[in-house]
Amino acid sequence: MAHLALFASGNGSNVQRIADYFRGHPDVSIDLVLSNNPQAYVLERSQKLNIPSLVFSRKDFYETNYILDILLARNITHIILAGFLWLIPENILKTFQGKIINIHPALLPGYGGKGMYGTRVHQAVINSGDTSSGITIHYVNETYDEGQIIFQSRCPVVPEDTPETLAGKIHQLEYRYYPEIIEQIVLGKGATGDR
Ligand code: GRF
Repeated sequence: MAHLALFASGNGSNVQRIADYFRGHPDVSIDLVLSNNPQAYVLERSQKLNIPSLVFSRKDFYETNYILDILLARNITHIILAGFLWLIPENILKTFQGKIINIHPALLPGYGGKGMYGTRVHQAVINSGDTSSGITIHYVNETYDEGQIIFQSRCPVVPEDTPETLAGKIHQLEYRYYPEIIEQIVLGKGATGDR
């Protein structure tokens, strides 16, 4: 059985989608939602979803084993980042090597790195004149958005697009593919590819 901890900093619509997808799943359970942001809407969602949640501080995360110990005590097997804005510290990276997955709302290696999140990503894509964008699901390492790519999917960018309309298209791709790719990875079915 795979036991997942989901990390999110904001709205949490991907967390919602992942929780809905895995409800009643025989081999995958969503055990915990963790956030660095006490105001994050994802916390309300997790309450409604009946998933335990936990808020932690920068100090807890980077200077102690508080979060690592909780993950181990709960037998978490994989960490899923869904709109989580902080880098994962070394103690957790080491223990969960190859078991931490992130989704980025653009086609890496373009439009990634520190500060590239939310609207900024979509605005940068539109400013560049690129005619496509998409999602990248990748393993997490010590650098923002640079871990090995697992999966990408594309959508068109048209001249009429705004950061909001592009975000809408990207979210549709995220909802469609992220749970499915997570399932394949955590159940060891492999999922590298491009659709
Ligand atoms: C998503 O676009 C995801 O790709 C990015 O942050 C956003 C989170 O959205 N990493 P939500 O909080 O799941 O609605």
